[in-house]
Amino acid sequence: MTTQLSRADAEDLRRSWDVRQEPFLPHRDEAFAVLADVAVGRRALDLAGGTGAIAARLRNDDVTLLDVDPVLLAIARAALGDRVAVLAADLGVPGWDAGLEFDAVVAGTALHCFAPDRLRELYREVHAVLAPGGVFANADRMPEGEPVAPDDGEPGGGEPGAAEPGDGLAGWREWWARALAHPALADAARNRVEGGSADFYPPASWHVDALRAAGFRDVEVRWRRGDTAVVVARRARV
Ligand SMILES: C[S@@+](CC[C@H](N)C(=O)[O-])C[C@H]1O[C@@H](n2cnc3c(N)ncnc32)[C@H](O)[C@@H]1O
Repeated sequence: MTTQLSRADAEDLRRSWDVRQEPFLPHRDEAFAVLADVAVGRRALDLAGGTGAIAARLRNDDVTLLDVDPVLLAIARAALGDRVAVLAADLGVPGWDAGLEFDAVVAGTALHCFAPDRLRELYREVHAVLAPGGVFANADRMPEGEPVAPDDGEPGGGEPGAAEPGDGLAGWREWWARALAHPALADAARNRVEGGSADFYPPASWHVDALRAAGFRDVEVRWRRGDTAVVVARRARV
């Protein structure tokens, strides 16, 4: 019989994930606070939410976290409890959005996993799941300079391989080794499908253009510190 992941162990893994992610998205706390402020409302979706770093910060009445990785989803489920609904879906292919509607959609340190063509499509799908007047916000590394060409990425379920992580990658591998060795995560670990990341980090202007092309209005860079930025876009009310 598989043991249940305790809330304490899940919370411990969730918090150490948060710490390990900081080198990949400097000023992460501040960026996520901006996401939480933008998303205030009723129903919110944390897209590619991982262990729930953003979902835990949202003040919405109704929060859903969506991700493809069963290990991260199991941790989020156990750590965040009933406050957050957890949804397994693959954003890499159309169809994840069937029947979904939200007032706010947020994403952080995640959409660089997708290559430009898929990300343009994904922005159209996000627009479609938002109710009229709904808002989308994306926090990620968005340098102000020239676009960065996507490369082959690294295996490992969303590892931000193109960052300048210094010692961060060692800590990251150590985190995964610990999570995958947890007996209560054995089933989830078996069901993981090794994905890759496109490591696509275009400048914020690329996101602004792609969001406008997807149908969004009032698209802007709401916040920036160095290469870390938050782009916010609204779906028209009618
Ligand atoms: C670097 S993590 C960021 C997670 C979380 N937003 C955070 O800031 O802690 C990237 C996330 O994207 C998710 N992801 C990557 N490809 C995905 C896909 N095709 N569908 C859904 N989620 C995906 C990964 O599983 C991982 O949770």
